[in-house]
Amino acid sequence: MLKGRSVLLIIGGGIAAYKAAELVRLIKKSGGAVRCILTKAGREFVTPLTLSGLSGEKVFEELFSLTDETEMGHIQLSRSADLVVVAPATADLMAKAANGLANDLASTTLLATDKRVLMAPAMNVRMWEHPATQRNLATLKRDGVTFVGPEDGEMACGEYGPGRMAEPVAILAAIGELLGPKGYPMPAPDPLPELAAPGGALAGKHVLITAGPTHEPIDPVRYIANRSSGKQGYALAEAAAAAGARVTLISGPVNLPAPYGVHVVKVETAREMGSAVSDALPADLAIFAAAVADWRTIDEAGQKLKKDGKAIPPLQLTENPDILARVSRLTDGRPALVVGFAAETEKVIEHATAKRARKGCDVIVANDVSPQSGVMGGENNTVHILSDAGVETLPEMSKDKVARALIDRFATLLKTKA
Ligand code: CTP
Repeated sequence: MLKGRSVLLIIGGGIAAYKAAELVRLIKKSGGAVRCILTKAGREFVTPLTLSGLSGEKVFEELFSLTDETEMGHIQLSRSADLVVVAPATADLMAKAANGLANDLASTTLLATDKRVLMAPAMNVRMWEHPATQRNLATLKRDGVTFVGPEDGEMACGEYGPGRMAEPVAILAAIGELLGPKGYPMPAPDPLPELAAPGGALAGKHVLITAGPTHEPIDPVRYIANRSSGKQGYALAEAAAAAGARVTLISGPVNLPAPYGVHVVKVETAREMGSAVSDALPADLAIFAAAVADWRTIDEAGQKLKKDGKAIPPLQLTENPDILARVSRLTDGRPALVVGFAAETEKVIEHATAKRARKGCDVIVANDVSPQSGVMGGENNTVHILSDAGVETLPEMSKDKVARALIDRFATLLKTKA
């Protein structure tokens, strides 16, 4: 996966530093090379011996180490890799990098590098939410730094909220994304074993997938949204990439890492999603898994709507363009297989059958999203596949397994269309 790529990993001081060892192992397992810079505080949590054992490389610690400088100067070190990763990125490291401080090896490297930088923040929730950290975050983003995490969760200090470092697999996925099509040519990911037909079941195909909710603005601070987490669409993108496809994932606002090897286009509104779909065509297979908002306000207020003691402001709605129906009816450049999703809360098969006819797509994947089903935002899904061949119901499975089963079916259907 990362064959021929090298990462310079800066390990800050925090309890999450123990996960950096796992990250080193994962990078190596993916075929990449990794050199570590361990900060003084990081050394309190993970030893240089562990890191050099896992990476098979010397671990760098001191800015002014005569041996290090004769072997490799710090400027050269900062440029020796394809990507610089900071994990954990502590509040202190973020502050230094945002302000251009350079008083130790880690901060000097971040200032001297000419490579892209990925940070995986980890800190106490109050520190993360502090205006100073948020200011530094905004500055670093403006400077072109990419972030993965932090995630919500219980922290070592017992508090709950955002601040937990992203899991090593998620950081690895983000590394794959950065070393992928945008930055450097990236080799196709290994196909999943169950799809490992020669060359992958979707080798050479372009698959377009929409995922997540859309946000329709009411005013600068409020919007209409829905409960879609995007998990099913992201799982489909991952499975399609693993089956050898080139995948474009057009995603509404969700809190999920980019799947490895997938080109992600982030959008907010239904109209932006529609334009991104048009830009991404042509495709062999198009899967519309997004929960697109049906309506948007007629006009977005330029300023925040105020109570002012007056009557409640009426929300005037208008219908959003139906992206699935539009693509299904294209006479020129219609994908060979168009798949829609039908999220229903009652009479699932009946409504989905009508929806398939109304939208003009080849396949509808129907699922029950009533609150008691736990599907919206949950880990599992039970789906029914409606096509010319009739209805096939898959057993309840994790969204990942559903995705693999669906991609398998779609690849077979696509072959019949060729
Ligand atoms: N869809 C779309 N663009 C829209 C609305 C829906 O592309 N503006 C797609 C969804 O991605 C999904 C399918 O259409 O694949 C069905 O979405 P759903 O919300 O279930 O259907 P609706 O058309 O909104 O029908 P209804 O609200 O009557 O259930």
